[in-house]
Amino acid sequence: MAISVLVADANSSSREQLRSMLARDRELEVVGDAADGREAVEISRSLSPDVVLLDGSILGSNGVAVVEGIQLASPDSAVIAMVEAADNELMRNLMRAGARDCLTKPAMPEDVINTIRGVNQALVKQRAIFGADAKGPQGKVIAVYSPQGGSGKSMLAANLSVSMALALNAKANPHSIVLVDFNLQFGDLDLLLNLNPDNTIAGLSAKGHTGIDSELVEQYLTVHEESGLRVLVAPSAPRYAESITAYTVEQVIDALRESYQYIIIDTTSQLQDITLAALDAANVILLLTSLDLLALHKTRTAMEMLRQLYTGDKIQPVLNRANSDVGISPQDVEEVLGMPVQTLIPSDGRNVVKSVNDGVPVVLSMPEAQISKRIVTLALQLVGRESSTAATLSADRKGGFFGRLFGG
Ligand SMILES: Nc1ncnc2c1ncn2[C@@H]1O[C@H](COP(=O)(O)OP(=O)(O)OP(=O)(O)O)[C@@H](O)[C@H]1O
Ligand SMILES: [Mg+2]
Repeated sequence: MAISVLVADANSSSREQLRSMLARDRELEVVGDAADGREAVEISRSLSPDVVLLDGSILGSNGVAVVEGIQLASPDSAVIAMVEAADNELMRNLMRAGARDCLTKPAMPEDVINTIRGVNQALVKQRAIFGADAKGPQGKVIAVYSPQGGSGKSMLAANLSVSMALALNAKANPHSIVLVDFNLQFGDLDLLLNLNPDNTIAGLSAKGHTGIDSELVEQYLTVHEESGLRVLVAPSAPRYAESITAYTVEQVIDALRESYQYIIIDTTSQLQDITLAALDAANVILLLTSLDLLALHKTRTAMEMLRQLYTGDKIQPVLNRANSDVGISPQDVEEVLGMPVQTLIPSDGRNVVKSVNDGVPVVLSMPEAQISKRIVTLALQLVGRESSTAATLSADRKGGFFGRLFGG
């Protein structure tokens, strides 16, 4: 199927030029054009094109508002902005507002077409991750699970959430992402993120015994200031976990789904009803394993069980501590699990231990480390932003890797 494109350009002759340039590519179909920001928003709303190509002439001084307007009107459309000069700050602001990529003018026809293709591919990949039914306003739920204790679930959940929060600019968009600690007895996300929560899920469960809605949950969240991530912290002591049921878990997830774009869930290794309720609700289960025979054996058993409950593509294996030289290779893992493992996270004891001790996720404290880069790549895939401007901005030598990607 052709990629549908809306061309938005204030100048009629360059609009026509763009149209005819894109029309020459059989993979693209120009479905409409707009001459100003308002029109771009309205046409996006009615046509929901795959891609909106926004020329700088339309962006003017309120480019950010135009991009935000299109995202609100048609959340599944990808915006590509064409800016007048390589202004990294403007590009970052547009990306933060929701643009998927930026091009600098004058852009060569093949650059425009390749960027449209690249952005569309990232979106297709994201839809494949979440399944076609995950389109639309309901939040996407990503559960991090492993049948093996200590496999790195909380490390991954915390770092992935923070990376996604930065990519989604959660400081400015507070309802973009929330992290939930469903390791009710021994949850430690507050420590990993150095949070001082006033409220936890225990209070929410007590208060919400007659029903939990999104307004109520909101009062029990703690903000991770550095990233803007919202966190529902686990009870402060195991005894407070007892009264929390699988039904509470379902209600909390349903409520968060209504108001958040992404809900990341940390779980326990035991497949008890709380964990199963979380896995049931998930669009994606990141099934963590490692190069360790026992862990692998448990993962295979869990995988067999999960496959009876859920369709295959809901489960995505992630290999943690993937670089250890221990006689088992990533290929062995793929063979045992019977599916490809796309995400490999290296072992990095020094940086991870320091980051845990400092309460600063490694993606923030050591953005240049391989472990951080791998987690950021996964985060960008999940938010559908695995496109090329990230690379362009990272060529700017100021600041760390993350600063260059999302910084300011
Ligand atoms: N890739 C890695 N490199 C180095 N250390 C790691 C890595 N992944 C996890 N760790 C460390 O291993 C320990 C266990 O990780 P973590 O607490 O995230 O596991 P978990 O699966 O959440 O455990 P639990 O089942 O107890 O909840 C932590 O000290 C963590 O910092
Ligand atoms: Mg944990």
